[in-house]
Amino acid sequence: MGAKTDPIRRCPGVLILAAGRGARMKSSTSKVLLELNGDPLIVHVLRKVAKVCEDSPIAVVVGNNRGNNRQTVTESLQAFPEFQNLHLTFVTQEEPRGTGDAVRCAMEAEWGKKLLSEKRKVLVLPGDSPLISEELVNETIGPLGRTNALRLVTCEQEDPTGYGRVVRRGKSGPVLRIVEHADAKEREKEITEVATSIYLFDPAFLNAGWRNISDRNAQGEFYLTDLISLAVRRKKGVDILKWSNADDLRGVNNPWELSEAGKILNTRVIKKWALSGVRFMDPFCTRVDPRVVIGQDVRIFPGVHLAGTTQIGDGVEVGHHAVIKDSVICARAQIKPGCVIENSFVGDDSKVGPYAHLRPESHVGKNVKIGNFVELKKTSIGNGTSVAHLSYLGDAEVGSNVNIGCGFVTCNFDGRVINGQRKHKTIIEDDVFMGSDCQVIAPIKIGKGSYIASGSTITKDTEPHSLAFGRSRQVTKVGRALKLREIFSVEKSHESEISK
Ligand code: UD1
Ligand code: CA
Repeated sequence: MGAKTDPIRRCPGVLILAAGRGARMKSSTSKVLLELNGDPLIVHVLRKVAKVCEDSPIAVVVGNNRGNNRQTVTESLQAFPEFQNLHLTFVTQEEPRGTGDAVRCAMEAEWGKKLLSEKRKVLVLPGDSPLISEELVNETIGPLGRTNALRLVTCEQEDPTGYGRVVRRGKSGPVLRIVEHADAKEREKEITEVATSIYLFDPAFLNAGWRNISDRNAQGEFYLTDLISLAVRRKKGVDILKWSNADDLRGVNNPWELSEAGKILNTRVIKKWALSGVRFMDPFCTRVDPRVVIGQDVRIFPGVHLAGTTQIGDGVEVGHHAVIKDSVICARAQIKPGCVIENSFVGDDSKVGPYAHLRPESHVGKNVKIGNFVELKKTSIGNGTSVAHLSYLGDAEVGSNVNIGCGFVTCNFDGRVINGQRKHKTIIEDDVFMGSDCQVIAPIKIGKGSYIASGSTITKDTEPHSLAFGRSRQVTKVGRALKLREIFSVEKSHESEISK
């Protein structure tokens, strides 16, 4: 059977090491769960693996502490539908005693035993190298050759500080061993070829290997990298895959490296969209998360952040400093500067902002105007409706062709809980005209076509086509202003007498 058709040869077991302490991050959250451009670090690794090894048995080694354990990592991965069909297993490493010990835990678990019996190769990856590419994974899992114990991925890093260095016989002879930064002599620290923590192992060698390493080194850890010198001592082949794109292999060990990785990832994402036609006015100060999808003829101004699973339709314009997260913006909509839109929907040809806030679960129909300083929360706005200035609508259902004047407020909270609901609903049916400066006290329903006079506080439902006033009656006294001025001027002269 050829390598292409043999599923076991094509699908190595995949082992992602994610149980480390991550102490250099100085965070209470586990390193592999820290966010990088909208997703946890480990998600970036798993995403690339899943594209190439979707049928592989995948094990993630997790720790056993509050921030990093089976539960927190599983919960975080479960939020991603893209991983639902993977064969994922979690293995616990009780104490983070090194990368070699993490592999021991996996090989001793059911996952490892099954792999051994199936003679599946093992692809090992670190959970903290989020910039790996599909091509790299693909090349790493290529045929290994019968005499080779492993394939080791290396690269040249301009600044190799912190990485394990690849020690060769002479300058470019065969590999002899990897020396960790903490154990390296000054001369060895000058080596710029580094180990990347990405390997393809022959399963029998890996399983014998972890039993033959010790923790007698500067960090008191079991180093997986010690398997290289073991293979050399046992006269087994070590196949080197030297990867030319060093950025793909950057590890994230401290907050600075996290920021650097974020910048590189962002540039890659933006460049991909720019080459597919999106016009970024300033690509270097725009943020686009990897899961965002953008249509054609879209213009994006400086300072914008498109986050999470946001989808931007054809012909949309997103103004300066708008932040749009997990939202759908349909064709030709205009999002003006300073808007914040989260988990919401904006229909075709609608205009939002400047400075509008669409809080979660808001749904704006087609051809709607949401103007400046308007806040929507859990509110739907029908087609052709206008909420043009300075308003708050929470828990409201607004029909189509409604006009909401300036300064409208849905009073949706009265401090009570009714049927388990803290917030009360406002329904404004089609074709309502709401004058400026009105409030409605929810729960309430304004019937179709009603006309609400400016300055009203509406407390009772209105039947369709009603005219409602909810304000005190005006009193006008003709000529009284002249009298008033007279009184005021007498008072004023009296005051200046006193102050003399
Ligand atoms: C490791 C390599 C180093 C390489 C670098 C590349 C070793 C000993 N060193 O160093 O040669 O240049 O990666 O990025 O392998 N982990 C566990 N359990 C542990 C310790 C670590 O699961 O007990 C996990 C971590 O969560 C991390 C990965 O293994 O995802 C690598 O560990 P880390 O401590 O970051 O190793 P480096 O010092 O970067
Ligand atoms: Ca690392």
